[in-house]
Amino acid sequence: MPTVALVQHRLHERALMRIAILGTGTMANALGTTWARAGHEIIIAGRSLTKANNLAAQIGGTATTVPEAIMDVDAVLLAIAWTGVPDILDAAHASTGTLTGTTLIDPTNAVDHGIGTHLLPPHTSAAQHIAHLAPGSHVVKAFHLHPADQWTDPTRPPVTVPYCGDNPQSLTATATLIRDAGSTPVPYGPLTRARQLEEVAGFIITLAFNGQDPRTAVPHIPAT
Ligand SMILES: NC(=O)c1ccc[n+]([C@@H]2O[C@H](COP(=O)([O-])OP(=O)(O)OC[C@H]3O[C@@H](n4cnc5c(N)ncnc54)[C@H](OP(=O)(O)O)[C@@H]3O)[C@@H](O)[C@H]2O)c1
Repeated sequence: MPTVALVQHRLHERALMRIAILGTGTMANALGTTWARAGHEIIIAGRSLTKANNLAAQIGGTATTVPEAIMDVDAVLLAIAWTGVPDILDAAHASTGTLTGTTLIDPTNAVDHGIGTHLLPPHTSAAQHIAHLAPGSHVVKAFHLHPADQWTDPTRPPVTVPYCGDNPQSLTATATLIRDAGSTPVPYGPLTRARQLEEVAGFIITLAFNGQDPRTAVPHIPAT
């Protein structure tokens, strides 16, 4: 839980951040690698300390336990399979307010892979559910629409990354991290817009599993 002074200090100095990544899989590796290259300090934690140690050694970060990783950081990335989100937030003791005031970036896709249907009831979103599980945190939905290698494969051109959330400082921090991953941040409004962004992922996944290039299903409208 960062102090206000700490957050302001770090955001004003070239915005180099201390980032906790919860998860040790593909997304943790990709975003951890690109943010470490950009100069951010990366702390890895997951349900397996061995995997966290291995990933930290690979990307040039440090590894620790989940409760320690989230202390005094500028942002937390929830790089966890959707079904594991409650467990990892439990391990972080999030229900007791340990993530209060923390930017909590949610790249999860709570969709039925292969089918693309959203797993949550209408009128809510994975991001809002995470906010409910981590009271006081500042959840920002981002990074869920592109495959992980977007963030590490130099042959992939930069992309547009829509992101949404309710806390201005957390939105600014996330925009910085999108830029530092080589792409363009596009604010998409408050966290209530997360459902729409998550449904877009379901749309993309459905087409991709049907062998179609999702980009061919949307009109090309040149930027103005
Ligand atoms: N990969 C992509 O291209 C991509 C793109 C956009 C968004 N996403 C989203 O990003 C998130 C992470 O994806 P990923 O590709 O990194 O998945 P992944 O490689 O399968 O890694 C999933 C991570 O979740 C952890 N996990 C699973 N169940 C858990 C539980 N019950 N408790 C604690 N940890 C648990 C795994 O731990 P163990 O290793 O110990 O099993 C692992 O660290 C997902 O929500 C996914 O939808 C992925």
